[in-house]
Amino acid sequence: MIKINSHNIVNHIEDIFNRRGAESYLGEDVTMAQHMLQAAQCAEQSGADGSLIVAALLHDIGHYQNEIPETALAKGKNNFHEEAGANFLEDYFPLSVVEPIRQHVAAKRYLCAVKPDYFERLSQASIHTLNLQGGPMNKEEVKEFEKNDYLEECINLRYWDEDAKDLERACPSFSSYRALIESLVKN
Ligand SMILES: [Fe+2]
Repeated sequence: MIKINSHNIVNHIEDIFNRRGAESYLGEDVTMAQHMLQAAQCAEQSGADGSLIVAALLHDIGHYQNEIPETALAKGKNNFHEEAGANFLEDYFPLSVVEPIRQHVAAKRYLCAVKPDYFERLSQASIHTLNLQGGPMNKEEVKEFEKNDYLEECINLRYWDEDAKDLERACPSFSSYRALIESLVKN
């Protein structure tokens, strides 16, 4: 693998989408690429800023790190893909992109604790992983989570994550986001 730097990071990400986007998304009907592109579209349609659109687009990139077999979650292991993705992206993108990605699993656990109607939005696969990820937050965890500077962004991304599993929804291609992603790369 070539050495990744701020000049080739966007090519590298596009390459991941092209090579591996067609893989299935953890027990959902949509592919990985469809899921992430749909999440970005949800963000755009909600009027999110560029950072949050890119966060939505890349939020599950951590599923590709270390070539973790996607069956690992089905085997009852948490693969910590949110940490893997954020750790990978933080060298190239600002916190406004990275933090909602890092927290997108915690945000699910948070919303399950504080919004009783949120749980009903979860797919079967998402409920399965919720349990592996620690279940709903307890009171202390909720308090801690609410200190996050990007709390609102984290919550919004989580709602789009749930909505981005629609087999019927058509959305723009990865290339339509290239210029936006490029504009956010740190020097
Ligand atoms: Fe996701």
